Amino acid sequence: MTRVFSGVKPTGHLTLGNYLGAMRQWAEVDQHRADALFCVVDLHALTVDHDPARVRRLSRQAATLLLATGLDPELCTVFVQSHVDEHARLSYVLECVATDGEMRRMIQYKEKAARERARGGSVRLSLLTYPVLMAADILAYGADEVPVGDDQAQHVELTRDLAVRFNQRYGHTFVVPKATVPEVAARVMNLQEPASKMGKSDDFGPGIVYLLDEPDVMRKKVMRAVTDSGREVVYDREGRPGVANLLEILAACTGKKPGALADAYESYGALKKDTAEAVVEVLRPVQERHKALCADPGHVEGVLGEGAEKARAMARPTVDAAYRAIGLLPAVSGAPAVALNAAR
Ligand code: AMP
Ligand code: TRP
Repeated sequence: MTRVFSGVKPTGHLTLGNYLGAMRQWAEVDQHRADALFCVVDLHALTVDHDPARVRRLSRQAATLLLATGLDPELCTVFVQSHVDEHARLSYVLECVATDGEMRRMIQYKEKAARERARGGSVRLSLLTYPVLMAADILAYGADEVPVGDDQAQHVELTRDLAVRFNQRYGHTFVVPKATVPEVAARVMNLQEPASKMGKSDDFGPGIVYLLDEPDVMRKKVMRAVTDSGREVVYDREGRPGVANLLEILAACTGKKPGALADAYESYGALKKDTAEAVVEVLRPVQERHKALCADPGHVEGVLGEGAEKARAMARPTVDAAYRAIGLLPAVSGAPAVALNAAR
Protein backbone atom coordinates (compact mmCIF):
# COMPACT_ATOMS: atom_id res chain seq x y z
CA MET A 1 0.00 0.00 0.00
CA THR A 2 1.21 3.51 -0.78
CA ARG A 3 2.64 5.28 2.26
CA VAL A 4 1.88 8.99 2.56
CA PHE A 5 3.44 11.48 4.98
CA SER A 6 2.81 15.18 5.42
CA GLY A 7 3.00 17.84 8.09
CA VAL A 8 2.03 21.29 9.18
CA LYS A 9 4.07 23.72 11.31
CA PRO A 10 2.52 25.31 14.38
CA THR A 11 3.98 28.76 13.67
CA GLY A 12 0.66 30.58 13.33
CA HIS A 13 -3.06 30.06 12.84
CA LEU A 14 -3.79 27.79 9.90
CA THR A 15 -5.06 29.42 6.73
CA LEU A 16 -7.17 28.81 3.68
CA GLY A 17 -3.85 28.25 1.86
CA ASN A 18 -2.95 25.36 4.17
CA TYR A 19 -6.41 23.91 3.67
CA LEU A 20 -6.75 24.15 -0.10
CA GLY A 21 -3.08 23.49 -0.82
CA ALA A 22 -2.67 20.49 1.44
CA MET A 23 -4.99 19.56 4.29
CA ARG A 24 -8.16 19.04 2.30
CA GLN A 25 -6.45 16.52 0.06
CA TRP A 26 -5.20 14.64 3.14
CA ALA A 27 -8.69 14.26 4.55
CA GLU A 28 -10.70 13.79 1.38
CA VAL A 29 -8.34 11.62 -0.63
CA ASP A 30 -5.09 10.47 0.96
CA GLN A 31 -6.34 8.87 4.16
CA HIS A 32 -8.78 6.75 2.15
CA ARG A 33 -6.37 5.44 -0.46
CA ALA A 34 -3.07 5.15 1.40
CA ASP A 35 -1.39 4.26 4.65
CA ALA A 36 -1.10 7.87 5.74
CA LEU A 37 0.59 9.80 8.53
CA PHE A 38 -0.08 13.46 9.32
CA CYS A 39 2.12 15.30 11.72
CA VAL A 40 2.16 18.57 13.64
CA VAL A 41 5.83 19.35 13.04
CA ASP A 42 6.50 21.30 16.21
CA LEU A 43 10.30 21.00 16.07
CA HIS A 44 10.14 23.01 12.85
CA ALA A 45 8.38 25.82 14.72
CA LEU A 46 11.54 26.42 16.77
CA THR A 47 13.58 27.49 13.75
CA VAL A 48 12.40 31.10 14.03
CA ASP A 49 11.88 33.44 16.96
CA HIS A 50 9.19 31.77 19.06
CA ASP A 51 7.24 31.97 22.27
CA PRO A 52 7.14 28.55 24.00
CA ALA A 53 3.60 28.93 25.33
CA ARG A 54 2.34 30.00 21.90
CA VAL A 55 3.96 27.06 20.13
CA ARG A 56 2.33 24.72 22.64
CA ARG A 57 -1.06 26.36 22.11
CA LEU A 58 -0.74 26.35 18.32
CA SER A 59 0.38 22.70 18.29
CA ARG A 60 -2.76 21.69 20.15
CA GLN A 61 -4.84 23.84 17.84
CA ALA A 62 -3.22 22.43 14.69
CA ALA A 63 -3.83 18.87 15.89
CA THR A 64 -7.46 19.70 16.66
CA LEU A 65 -7.87 21.29 13.23
CA LEU A 66 -6.35 18.26 11.51
CA LEU A 67 -9.07 16.15 13.07
CA ALA A 68 -11.66 18.83 12.28
CA THR A 69 -10.82 18.62 8.57
CA GLY A 70 -12.01 15.02 8.76
CA LEU A 71 -8.84 13.04 9.42
CA ASP A 72 -10.01 9.85 11.07
CA PRO A 73 -7.61 8.12 13.50
CA GLU A 74 -9.14 4.80 12.42
CA LEU A 75 -7.89 5.44 8.89
CA CYS A 76 -4.63 7.34 9.39
CA THR A 77 -2.04 8.27 12.00
CA VAL A 78 -2.11 11.76 13.50
CA PHE A 79 0.70 12.76 15.83
CA VAL A 80 3.14 15.39 17.05
CA GLN A 81 6.71 15.29 15.72
CA SER A 82 8.47 15.88 19.05
CA HIS A 83 6.67 12.87 20.57
CA VAL A 84 8.66 10.58 18.30
CA ASP A 85 12.44 10.70 18.86
CA GLU A 86 13.22 9.04 15.52
CA HIS A 87 12.85 12.34 13.63
CA ALA A 88 15.72 14.06 15.44
CA ARG A 89 17.71 10.82 15.50
CA LEU A 90 17.57 10.44 11.76
CA SER A 91 18.03 14.14 11.07
CA TYR A 92 21.58 14.06 12.44
CA VAL A 93 22.57 11.15 10.24
CA LEU A 94 21.13 12.92 7.18
CA GLU A 95 23.14 16.02 8.09
CA CYS A 96 26.14 13.81 7.44
CA VAL A 97 24.87 13.19 3.91
CA ALA A 98 23.69 16.70 3.00
CA THR A 99 26.06 19.55 2.12
CA ASP A 100 26.01 23.09 3.41
CA GLY A 101 25.86 24.43 -0.15
CA GLU A 102 22.69 22.47 -0.75
CA MET A 103 21.10 23.94 2.36
CA ARG A 104 22.06 27.50 1.46
CA ARG A 105 20.41 27.15 -1.94
CA MET A 106 16.96 26.48 -0.47
CA ILE A 107 14.61 29.30 -1.49
CA GLN A 108 12.72 29.29 1.79
CA TYR A 109 15.98 29.58 3.76
CA LYS A 110 17.21 32.43 1.60
CA GLU A 111 13.94 34.35 1.95
CA LYS A 112 13.47 33.80 5.68
CA ALA A 113 17.12 34.44 6.52
CA ALA A 114 17.11 37.68 4.50
CA ARG A 115 13.92 38.84 6.23
CA GLU A 116 15.37 38.06 9.64
CA ARG A 117 18.65 39.87 8.90
CA ALA A 118 16.78 42.89 7.52
CA ARG A 119 15.03 43.13 10.89
CA GLY A 120 18.41 43.13 12.58
CA GLY A 121 17.83 39.68 14.06
CA SER A 122 20.02 36.61 13.98
CA VAL A 123 19.33 33.47 11.97
CA ARG A 124 19.04 30.23 13.91
CA LEU A 125 21.25 27.40 12.69
CA SER A 126 18.15 25.19 12.70
CA LEU A 127 16.63 27.39 9.96
CA LEU A 128 19.49 26.30 7.72
CA THR A 129 19.23 22.62 8.63
CA TYR A 130 15.40 22.61 8.60
CA PRO A 131 15.09 20.80 5.24
CA VAL A 132 17.19 17.92 6.61
CA LEU A 133 14.78 17.48 9.50
CA MET A 134 11.95 17.55 6.98
CA ALA A 135 13.74 14.88 4.94
CA ALA A 136 14.07 12.81 8.13
CA ASP A 137 10.31 13.18 8.77
CA ILE A 138 9.59 11.73 5.36
CA LEU A 139 12.33 9.09 5.05
CA ALA A 140 11.83 7.64 8.54
CA TYR A 141 8.44 6.36 7.44
CA GLY A 142 9.39 5.14 3.99
CA ALA A 143 6.81 7.50 2.50
CA ASP A 144 6.19 7.13 -1.23
CA GLU A 145 4.23 10.36 -1.55
CA VAL A 146 4.29 13.71 0.18
CA PRO A 147 1.16 15.80 -0.48
CA VAL A 148 2.19 19.45 -0.09
CA GLY A 149 1.60 22.91 -1.50
CA ASP A 150 3.87 24.18 -4.21
CA ASP A 151 6.23 26.01 -1.78
CA GLN A 152 7.43 22.68 -0.36
CA ALA A 153 8.28 21.04 -3.68
CA GLN A 154 11.95 22.08 -3.45
CA HIS A 155 12.29 20.53 0.01
CA VAL A 156 10.82 17.26 -1.22
CA GLU A 157 13.22 17.35 -4.17
CA LEU A 158 16.11 17.68 -1.69
CA THR A 159 14.67 14.77 0.31
CA ARG A 160 14.82 12.66 -2.84
CA ASP A 161 18.43 13.66 -3.47
CA LEU A 162 19.44 12.74 0.10
CA ALA A 163 17.64 9.38 -0.10
CA VAL A 164 19.31 8.49 -3.39
CA ARG A 165 22.75 9.60 -2.15
CA PHE A 166 22.43 7.67 1.11
CA ASN A 167 21.26 4.54 -0.71
CA GLN A 168 24.14 4.76 -3.18
CA ARG A 169 26.78 5.23 -0.51
CA TYR A 170 25.56 2.97 2.24
CA GLY A 171 23.20 0.48 0.65
CA HIS A 172 19.50 0.58 -0.04
CA THR A 173 17.80 1.96 3.08
CA PHE A 174 15.26 4.61 2.06
CA VAL A 175 12.25 4.78 -0.22
CA VAL A 176 12.69 7.70 -2.63
CA PRO A 177 9.54 9.82 -2.20
CA LYS A 178 7.80 12.24 -4.51
CA ALA A 179 5.76 15.37 -3.89
CA THR A 180 2.13 15.44 -4.92
CA VAL A 181 0.84 18.96 -5.47
CA PRO A 182 -2.85 19.80 -6.11
CA GLU A 183 -3.86 20.87 -9.61
CA VAL A 184 -5.46 24.11 -8.49
CA ALA A 185 -4.70 26.21 -5.41
CA ALA A 186 -1.22 24.75 -4.95
CA ARG A 187 -0.17 28.30 -4.04
CA VAL A 188 -2.96 30.42 -2.64
CA MET A 189 -1.86 34.05 -2.66
CA ASN A 190 -2.35 36.76 -0.06
CA LEU A 191 -5.59 38.59 -0.89
CA GLN A 192 -3.97 41.99 -0.31
CA GLU A 193 -0.61 41.10 -1.86
CA PRO A 194 -1.32 38.72 -4.72
CA ALA A 195 2.41 38.51 -5.47
CA SER A 196 3.09 36.79 -2.11
CA LYS A 197 1.90 33.46 -0.76
CA MET A 198 -0.88 33.44 1.83
CA GLY A 199 1.40 32.47 4.71
CA LYS A 200 0.24 32.07 8.28
CA SER A 201 3.14 33.93 9.78
CA ASP A 202 2.87 36.89 7.45
CA ASP A 203 2.15 40.40 8.56
CA PHE A 204 -0.68 41.04 6.11
CA GLY A 205 -3.62 39.93 8.31
CA PRO A 206 -6.34 41.41 6.08
CA GLY A 207 -5.15 39.33 3.14
CA ILE A 208 -5.14 36.03 5.03
CA VAL A 209 -8.25 33.92 5.56
CA TYR A 210 -7.76 31.88 8.72
CA LEU A 211 -9.63 28.60 9.11
CA LEU A 212 -11.14 29.85 12.35
CA ASP A 213 -12.16 33.33 11.15
CA GLU A 214 -15.82 34.16 11.73
CA PRO A 215 -17.81 33.77 8.46
CA ASP A 216 -18.40 37.52 8.24
CA VAL A 217 -14.70 38.24 8.65
CA MET A 218 -13.94 35.78 5.83
CA ARG A 219 -16.54 37.46 3.60
CA LYS A 220 -15.06 40.90 4.27
CA LYS A 221 -11.52 39.73 3.52
CA VAL A 222 -12.56 38.20 0.21
CA MET A 223 -14.73 41.17 -0.78
CA ARG A 224 -11.78 43.51 -0.12
CA ALA A 225 -9.30 41.40 -2.05
CA VAL A 226 -7.01 43.45 -4.29
CA THR A 227 -7.96 42.89 -7.91
CA ASP A 228 -6.14 43.99 -11.02
CA SER A 229 -6.77 46.96 -13.25
CA GLY A 230 -9.06 46.06 -16.12
CA ARG A 231 -12.62 44.88 -15.82
CA GLU A 232 -12.90 41.61 -17.66
CA VAL A 233 -12.61 38.42 -15.69
CA VAL A 234 -9.75 36.46 -17.27
CA TYR A 235 -7.60 33.69 -15.84
CA ASP A 236 -4.02 34.91 -16.19
CA ARG A 237 -1.72 34.17 -13.25
CA GLU A 238 1.07 36.44 -14.48
CA GLY A 239 -0.87 39.37 -15.85
CA ARG A 240 -3.86 39.33 -13.45
CA PRO A 241 -2.65 37.64 -10.29
CA GLY A 242 -5.36 39.02 -7.99
CA VAL A 243 -8.26 37.79 -10.12
CA ALA A 244 -6.47 34.53 -10.91
CA ASN A 245 -6.11 33.89 -7.17
CA LEU A 246 -9.85 34.38 -6.60
CA LEU A 247 -10.63 32.11 -9.56
CA GLU A 248 -8.36 29.41 -8.17
CA ILE A 249 -9.89 29.66 -4.70
CA LEU A 250 -13.39 29.45 -6.16
CA ALA A 251 -12.35 26.56 -8.42
CA ALA A 252 -10.81 24.65 -5.52
CA CYS A 253 -13.92 25.18 -3.40
CA THR A 254 -16.39 24.16 -6.12
CA GLY A 255 -14.43 21.51 -8.02
CA LYS A 256 -14.54 23.55 -11.25
CA LYS A 257 -11.75 24.80 -13.52
CA PRO A 258 -10.49 28.38 -13.07
CA GLY A 259 -10.49 29.02 -16.82
CA ALA A 260 -14.10 27.90 -17.20
CA LEU A 261 -15.13 30.01 -14.20
CA ALA A 262 -13.52 33.09 -15.74
CA ASP A 263 -15.83 32.75 -18.75
CA ALA A 264 -18.86 32.59 -16.47
CA TYR A 265 -18.25 35.97 -14.75
CA GLU A 266 -18.79 39.44 -16.10
CA SER A 267 -17.59 41.45 -13.11
CA TYR A 268 -15.08 41.27 -10.28
CA GLY A 269 -17.86 42.04 -7.79
CA ALA A 270 -19.89 38.94 -8.66
CA LEU A 271 -16.76 36.78 -8.63
CA LYS A 272 -15.80 38.04 -5.17
CA LYS A 273 -19.28 37.50 -3.79
CA ASP A 274 -19.44 33.88 -4.98
CA THR A 275 -15.88 33.20 -3.84
CA ALA A 276 -16.64 34.55 -0.37
CA GLU A 277 -19.70 32.31 -0.05
CA ALA A 278 -17.85 29.28 -1.40
CA VAL A 279 -15.05 29.76 1.15
CA VAL A 280 -17.52 30.12 4.02
CA GLU A 281 -19.34 26.95 2.91
CA VAL A 282 -16.17 24.88 2.50
CA LEU A 283 -14.95 25.84 5.96
CA ARG A 284 -18.30 25.60 7.76
CA PRO A 285 -18.06 21.85 8.56
CA VAL A 286 -14.41 22.24 9.63
CA GLN A 287 -15.38 25.00 12.06
CA GLU A 288 -18.30 22.98 13.42
CA ARG A 289 -16.15 19.91 14.04
CA HIS A 290 -13.43 22.08 15.56
CA LYS A 291 -15.93 23.48 18.06
CA ALA A 292 -17.08 19.99 19.04
CA LEU A 293 -13.49 18.76 19.42
CA CYS A 294 -12.55 21.73 21.61
CA ALA A 295 -15.26 20.64 24.02
CA ASP A 296 -13.45 17.30 24.39
CA PRO A 297 -9.69 18.00 24.65
CA GLY A 298 -9.11 14.57 26.23
CA HIS A 299 -10.14 12.98 22.94
CA VAL A 300 -7.54 14.92 20.95
CA GLU A 301 -4.84 14.07 23.49
CA GLY A 302 -5.77 10.40 23.29
CA VAL A 303 -5.56 10.42 19.50
CA LEU A 304 -2.10 12.04 19.66
CA GLY A 305 -0.89 9.54 22.25
CA GLU A 306 -1.94 6.56 20.16
CA GLY A 307 -0.67 8.23 16.99
CA ALA A 308 2.80 8.74 18.46
CA GLU A 309 2.96 5.12 19.54
CA LYS A 310 2.01 3.88 16.08
CA ALA A 311 4.43 6.30 14.42
CA ARG A 312 7.31 5.27 16.67
CA ALA A 313 6.83 1.62 15.79
CA MET A 314 6.82 2.46 12.09
CA ALA A 315 9.90 4.71 12.11
CA ARG A 316 12.16 2.78 14.46
CA PRO A 317 13.23 -0.07 12.14
CA THR A 318 14.13 2.29 9.28
CA VAL A 319 16.10 4.65 11.49
CA ASP A 320 17.91 1.72 13.12
CA ALA A 321 18.76 0.40 9.65
CA ALA A 322 20.15 3.82 8.64
CA TYR A 323 22.32 3.91 11.80
CA ARG A 324 23.74 0.49 11.00
CA ALA A 325 24.26 1.26 7.33
CA ILE A 326 26.21 4.46 7.97
CA GLY A 327 28.63 2.71 10.33
CA LEU A 328 27.31 3.17 13.85
CA LEU A 329 27.80 0.25 16.19
CA PRO A 330 24.49 -1.34 17.16
CA ALA A 331 23.69 -1.04 20.86
CA VAL A 332 23.20 -4.37 22.59
CA SER A 333 20.61 -4.12 25.32
CA GLY A 334 21.47 -5.35 28.83
CA ALA A 335 24.92 -6.02 30.34
CA PRO A 336 27.00 -8.57 28.45
CA ALA A 337 27.01 -12.06 29.98
CA VAL A 338 30.81 -12.00 30.58
CA ALA A 339 30.65 -8.81 32.62
CA LEU A 340 27.80 -10.23 34.67
CA ASN A 341 29.77 -13.40 35.41
CA ALA A 342 32.84 -11.41 36.43
CA ALA A 343 30.79 -9.35 38.86
CA ARG A 344 29.42 -12.40 40.60
P1 AMP B 1 3.07 25.27 6.62
O1 AMP B 1 2.03 26.26 6.99
O2 AMP B 1 4.24 25.93 6.01
O3 AMP B 1 3.38 24.33 7.70
O4 AMP B 1 2.42 24.40 5.46
C1 AMP B 1 1.64 23.25 5.62
C2 AMP B 1 1.19 22.78 4.26
O5 AMP B 1 0.33 23.77 3.66
C3 AMP B 1 2.35 22.60 3.28
O6 AMP B 1 2.09 21.47 2.48
C4 AMP B 1 2.33 23.86 2.46
O7 AMP B 1 2.87 23.68 1.17
C5 AMP B 1 0.85 24.15 2.39
N1 AMP B 1 0.60 25.59 2.22
C6 AMP B 1 0.94 26.57 3.08
N2 AMP B 1 0.57 27.77 2.62
C7 AMP B 1 -0.01 27.55 1.40
C8 AMP B 1 -0.60 28.40 0.41
N3 AMP B 1 -0.67 29.72 0.58
N4 AMP B 1 -1.09 27.82 -0.70
C9 AMP B 1 -1.03 26.48 -0.86
N5 AMP B 1 -0.50 25.63 0.02
C10 AMP B 1 0.01 26.15 1.15
N1 TRP C 1 8.28 22.26 5.82
C1 TRP C 1 6.86 22.05 5.73
C2 TRP C 1 6.17 23.40 5.61
O1 TRP C 1 6.72 24.40 5.94
C3 TRP C 1 6.32 21.31 6.92
C4 TRP C 1 6.90 19.95 7.00
C5 TRP C 1 7.86 19.52 7.87
C6 TRP C 1 6.57 18.85 6.17
N2 TRP C 1 8.11 18.22 7.66
C7 TRP C 1 7.38 17.77 6.64
C8 TRP C 1 5.71 18.67 5.10
C9 TRP C 1 7.33 16.52 6.01
C10 TRP C 1 5.68 17.42 4.48
C11 TRP C 1 6.47 16.36 4.94
O2 TRP C 1 5.06 23.42 5.20
